[in-house]
Amino acid sequence: MEERLQKVLAQAGVASRREAEEYITAGRVKVNGKVVKELGTKVGPDAFIMVDGHPIQRERKTYLLFYKPRGVVTTMKDPEGRKSIADYVKDIPQRVYPVGRLDYNTEGLLLLTNDGELAQAMTHPSHEVNKIYEVTVPGIVPQEKLDLLRIGVTLEDGMTAPAIVDLVGYDYEKNLTRFNVTIHEGRNRQVRRMCDYIGFPVRYLRRVQMGTLTLDGLRRGDCRELFNEEIEELRAECGLKREPEKKAKAEKKTQWKTEDKQARRTGDESKRKTAEGPERKRQAGPNARPVADNSGKSRRSPGGREVIRQSKKEAVAFADFGRV
Ligand code: URA
Repeated sequence: MEERLQKVLAQAGVASRREAEEYITAGRVKVNGKVVKELGTKVGPDAFIMVDGHPIQRERKTYLLFYKPRGVVTTMKDPEGRKSIADYVKDIPQRVYPVGRLDYNTEGLLLLTNDGELAQAMTHPSHEVNKIYEVTVPGIVPQEKLDLLRIGVTLEDGMTAPAIVDLVGYDYEKNLTRFNVTIHEGRNRQVRRMCDYIGFPVRYLRRVQMGTLTLDGLRRGDCRELFNEEIEELRAECGLKREPEKKAKAEKKTQWKTEDKQARRTGDESKRKTAEGPERKRQAGPNARPVADNSGKSRRSPGGREVIRQSKKEAVAFADFGRV
């Protein structure tokens, strides 16, 4: 279906419709390689659109932080009919995909997105995005075995890069050792295989951090959208440039705040940005973009993003797992 160019730009999150019209009349928009200045121009779904020389993504870029529970496959569909990520993001209109994967029996942090550039950058070994895993193994692991992981061990697909290993402690009653492993490689079942190598097969594995993203505020099966700042931090970590439209928005916001502050200082109410001032607006959440709720219940993450709640049954089923 053909749609008006300004609507397509707005839907892609490039700008508001009014701003998109300004972009078009200013000659900043190209459709299939040609500058389009006509406001009524309609474009089809396959039109290649660029703004200021940057291709736009027709579907709004979406970034979801997901706490994958154990017993869920890291694909959007499972031929064997097991629970998959798709079961948790049913109400998200965008087609998101996991960045990297977690084993069926591993739980923890997964990023879901339709931003191919970021996904590729995050999984590329040259960017070395750190991932932190909480590991529990049966028995008491001697320091020299942990040192092997720190140095690197030889697996069937080659030697692992040195890992950071922090011993959390021994549970003498349960005869378990807990430690955290930080790696930047993303090989298949890497942590499990590393632990097999030292003779201590994993009993429990959870990814708690990926780059700057953490599981804070999420429970098993929860999902929330990332904040713009989090996305920009991730982009920076992978060596990607700040997105031009986001940069422009951030600059505009700073200017808006500066002007409001100045007006407040001089007592010039006519130049204030809102009758109640910017704080009031911030509370309302200028970025607040609610995400659909799978379970009929929802709550806010500490930062204010709406969290898609996991089902109560699941929370109970896995409640004790972390404590093994
Ligand atoms: N390492 C593993 O062994 N499993 C995972 O799911 C992730 C890292």
